[in-house]
Amino acid sequence: MNQLVARSVIRGLITASNCSRHMSSSPAVAAATTILRRFDEAAVVRDQGLGFGYGGGARWGRMMSTAVEAAAETPGQKASGAVDEKKEKEKKEGGELMVSSYWGISRPKITREDGTAWPWNCFMPWQTYQADLSIDLSKHHVPKTFLDKVAYRTVKLLRIPTDIFFQRRYGCRAMMLETVAAVPGMVGGMLLHLRSLRKFEHSGGWVKALLEEAENERMHLMTMAELVKPKWYERLLVLTVQGVFFNAFFVLYVLSPKLAHRIVGYLEEEAIHSYTEYLKDIDSGAIENVPAPAIAIDYWRLPKDATLKDVITVIRADEAHHRDVNHFASVSAIAYFSCL
Ligand SMILES: [Fe+2]
Ligand SMILES: [Fe+2]
Repeated sequence: MNQLVARSVIRGLITASNCSRHMSSSPAVAAATTILRRFDEAAVVRDQGLGFGYGGGARWGRMMSTAVEAAAETPGQKASGAVDEKKEKEKKEGGELMVSSYWGISRPKITREDGTAWPWNCFMPWQTYQADLSIDLSKHHVPKTFLDKVAYRTVKLLRIPTDIFFQRRYGCRAMMLETVAAVPGMVGGMLLHLRSLRKFEHSGGWVKALLEEAENERMHLMTMAELVKPKWYERLLVLTVQGVFFNAFFVLYVLSPKLAHRIVGYLEEEAIHSYTEYLKDIDSGAIENVPAPAIAIDYWRLPKDATLKDVITVIRADEAHHRDVNHFASVSAIAYFSCL
């Protein structure tokens, strides 16, 4: 996405440079430039009003204007010199430099609502997530059809080794399971994306919904990884499980997306159960209710004094949402899901 943004900015720079070259000779053009600048400043003010938005499009716009001015003054070396100066300034300020860039275009500075620097590269303020805490946690899809029963039994069977391996170590358990939970959304989203391309058909919004689910699950993992440091053998287990699960789920989704979504629906029901047990252990004092990781506070927009209990509560609500989405996908939206 950063590359896409960078490319569009470069395109803008090239266009703007050409424009400024043509425009600089005419007074009318000078007036137009002023108007453009005013528009740019207005955009900055507007986005400042929106809080999180500042630093997004407006910031890019402002950077583009600055670059164009520099290019117009002294084409060539001066422009790159200005970029180098900016980099040096950022270094001195201890700011984070963009790892990769096109011709020195660096990442815009993004801030929180309170004006402090946005520290995350993996998600932006406009990608934060609002958990629905009013969601019904006790809903259960009673297996009726043959496929439902297969899905239900499969999940119950998979739970046995998980219970034996982790027992009540819910931190480890959650972290390891999230490495698996983020796979189905990506596989389903990818296959439906390809289907949409292949058949020249709309996806009914499912590609986006499933990819968002995968991203949300990955953020669960990023949060849990702050709380629990995986040991070497757990990392090895993740490698093995991911290799097996990704391929198995891929094949299953191609053969029967209905069954695949039903299995995920039941997996999410199990996840709700696991997180409920986790919360019980926090309440009983068996697990310390430590402060919430910073990444979780920003991602779910939790209060600054949020604790582990708050984090597990929102994660559990997310799982309930995934449960509903996947059971719904299995029952209602089958028209979009045939991969063949
Ligand atoms: Fe999750
Ligand atoms: Fe989930």
